[in-house]
Amino acid sequence: MCGIVGYTGKNSALAPVLEGLRRLEYRGYDSAGIALTVAVGQQLWVEKRAGKLGNLEETLEDGTPDSHSGIGHTRWATHGGPTDTNAHPHLDNEGKLALIHNGIIENYVELRAELERRGHIFKSETDTESVVHLLSDARKAHHGDLAAAMREVCAELRGSFTLLAIHSDQPDHIVGARRNSPLVVGVGNGENFLASDVAAFIAHTKRALELGQDEVVDISPTEIIITDLQGNVLPHHEYEISWDASAAERGGYAHFMLKEIYEQPKAILDTLIGRLHGLGAEISQNIDFGKIDKVVIIACGTAFHAGLVGKYAIEQWGGISVEVEYASEYRYREPRVDGHTLVIPISQSGETMDTLMAMRYAKENGAQVFSVCNTNGSTIPRESDAVLYTHAGPEIAVASTKAFATQLIAMYLIGLHLGQIRGTITSEFIAEMAEHLEALPAKVEQVLETVEPLRELTRQFKDSSSMLFLGRHVGYPTALEGALKLKELAYMHAEGFPGGELKHGPIALIDQGTPVVAMIPAEGSLLAEKMASNVQEVKARGAVVIAISDWHVPAASHVVRIPSTHPFLQPVLSVVPLQVIAYEMAIARGNDVDQPRNLAKSVTVE
Ligand code: AGP
Repeated sequence: MCGIVGYTGKNSALAPVLEGLRRLEYRGYDSAGIALTVAVGQQLWVEKRAGKLGNLEETLEDGTPDSHSGIGHTRWATHGGPTDTNAHPHLDNEGKLALIHNGIIENYVELRAELERRGHIFKSETDTESVVHLLSDARKAHHGDLAAAMREVCAELRGSFTLLAIHSDQPDHIVGARRNSPLVVGVGNGENFLASDVAAFIAHTKRALELGQDEVVDISPTEIIITDLQGNVLPHHEYEISWDASAAERGGYAHFMLKEIYEQPKAILDTLIGRLHGLGAEISQNIDFGKIDKVVIIACGTAFHAGLVGKYAIEQWGGISVEVEYASEYRYREPRVDGHTLVIPISQSGETMDTLMAMRYAKENGAQVFSVCNTNGSTIPRESDAVLYTHAGPEIAVASTKAFATQLIAMYLIGLHLGQIRGTITSEFIAEMAEHLEALPAKVEQVLETVEPLRELTRQFKDSSSMLFLGRHVGYPTALEGALKLKELAYMHAEGFPGGELKHGPIALIDQGTPVVAMIPAEGSLLAEKMASNVQEVKARGAVVIAISDWHVPAASHVVRIPSTHPFLQPVLSVVPLQVIAYEMAIARGNDVDQPRNLAKSVTVE
């Protein structure tokens, strides 16, 4: 969702602010803007435009002031359409105070009514603009102290926010605040940064500071002051970012998504390293596994599909019941949770609001929370009792690929861990599974080496109106993931079904030439026979069937061969061709691969 950048320092601010916005483009947005300080007491210089960053950059060709401090924003519209006026930054009525915001201000209607009564003139339809007017009044009441004003304003706001503000009276200061929305500080040498994501400043510094809930930060080129809303100065928690700028660049690939598909062998290896012989030290200290009698996995989208696969592994190996629920639905049915429940939120970003709120509900009701996350220091792991970090590296494309592969690995590791401590699996079984897991990176590599013909085949279906995906057991969540990927990227109707469910209705969708992708388990297994029958059923009604399997599946029209593995691990291999189908279809249909329409990478609103 919205991207936020602030720079103050020895260099000209425009370049790092624009570069930061570029690096945050992956989050998805529909307008962009920047504000720069000019001179003490003078009006700020502001430009904002609907559409992509390129539109904003065109307006900058006529010149910008030489400024050493500024803020930039990419907006994903919520309140008010994606127009120039609704784009951020928003200004106070004197044009000296600028504010950018990510999140939603829930009490903006009442705030706006009160501020209009006090004489403030509003220009946009946004919830954000109320905050800038409120901040303007508070700043005057605090004799020009912007940080003190920010503390007062935050206490009045309901909802979620990351806020950055600058005022021309303190041109080298930027004041930020956060609640339920990410904000990190980049610590430089004679320069400092604020951003919604470390990717924005990774090219300049790898030193970062975490900001907690309801904290306010005031940065200048040489100083960083963090306070709580009462004004108490808080200690700094600095950490080193473990990846470098090149990880967030395309590195010769046509798209981030393609790069990330090809990074999967390494990502899987990185997630496995040091964990094949137990997760003990990493997670056990804060979780009482002996107490658990139920596991609940909560997640959204692709992460939810990883959770569905996880259910098979954790239930079977760990000998414990597992529920998997859409995070956005979870707390609204007021589920029964207590200290015997282990809740596992899965999230690439660690900032997904639906997942965060579901997890908070579970925690408040006594559950133990053990998250699976890809983003160090993000809100979900910080609020969990323990975390298993997937080491996929930064995932930039909106459509999740390598994060999914590593979430699957995390599920298997948790299943084995629970099985080990609950005594439901033998050490021989664990050793056998460790071998299967260790072999996965090379097997994914093998799949990647053979996908070229699939790209060609995919283009044949470019004008199809629909594509269906079938699977059974762990192949069913894989089918759901294949359908989600295709919807996101090709803007095409796609659905995943359990193979056995077809005859109960969905088979009516099959027509002459309908493409159907089927996940087929290893030859000779009962489920392989059942799936082969399902393939016959759709073929008999005109479908063109692409089977993904480790054997030749005579009933299929085309077979994408993948290496053999343990049946539970097959999704790690079979999802790769599904990602390639979605990628290729997006290109064939002329769609934006890395930033599909209407979508955002990190969904920080409910
Ligand atoms: C997948 O391709 C998505 N873009 C989306 O479904 C994503 O997986 C979901 O929004 C959850 O995000 P998270 O893992 O960051 O919580």
